[in-house]
Amino acid sequence: MTPKARWEIENADVVVGYKTYVTLVKSLIKSGVEVISGTMGREVDRAKAAVEKALENKAVVVISSGDPGVYGMAGVVLEVAALEGVGVPVEVVPGVTAATAAASKLGAPLVSDFAVISLSDLLTPWKLIEKRLKAAAEADFSIVLYNPQSVGRKEPLTKAYEILLKYRSPSTPVGVVRQAGRDGEAATITTLKKLLDCDVDMVTTIVVGNSTTRIVNGRMVTPRGYDLSQ
Ligand SMILES: C[S@@+](CC[C@H](N)C(=O)[O-])C[C@H]1O[C@@H](n2cnc3c(N)ncnc32)[C@H](O)[C@@H]1O
Repeated sequence: MTPKARWEIENADVVVGYKTYVTLVKSLIKSGVEVISGTMGREVDRAKAAVEKALENKAVVVISSGDPGVYGMAGVVLEVAALEGVGVPVEVVPGVTAATAAASKLGAPLVSDFAVISLSDLLTPWKLIEKRLKAAAEADFSIVLYNPQSVGRKEPLTKAYEILLKYRSPSTPVGVVRQAGRDGEAATITTLKKLLDCDVDMVTTIVVGNSTTRIVNGRMVTPRGYDLSQ
């Protein structure tokens, strides 16, 4: 969380968010503040509720995890606010996204060009995800995988693994980070070949190195190309 995001939550009249995220920031919410929480999949309803409250001149905070502009609520809130056509002012407050939070736990795997791909096909067709995986792998980006796997959804990660192995060496360093910055945080560095042996769930982010990524003193590093002999 950034200090600005913390300030906004602490000074809100209304806090709106997926219930798991609201629980994570509970200690920052002042007593008497209205909390509108809900389940996954009700994002449009939450955005509408937030806009309605803003129209009552309330300071409304919509919570996302990490950064709200990365697979978060920022887009849908802007879209819903525009639908109302009444000029509700919306400020997008940046946070620390899982890609960089996870990278920091692994070392420095993202100091060169990288691509971020979500393996969730709830809102993006799987064919397009596959196309993006192939393009990013072929172009030698380091690749960050969000939404890699849930209890009932293991196939996308297996398919992604097969695609990545077509373009990248089995010994490519891979980092698997669960609950970055939260209780229960765990970071593992492995290889692409062994990726499917790792514990991966919906609070996990996976970082796949590019062809130059290596292990330096146990940390995952993608060299930027500096000449260290100088
Ligand atoms: C819907 S996306 C939300 C991303 C979020 N807006 C962000 O910027 O990090 C959910 C995915 O983000 C990743 N994620 C979110 N929080 C995480 C954390 N604390 N540790 C590791 N991965 C996380 C996981 O891959 C999870 O499946």
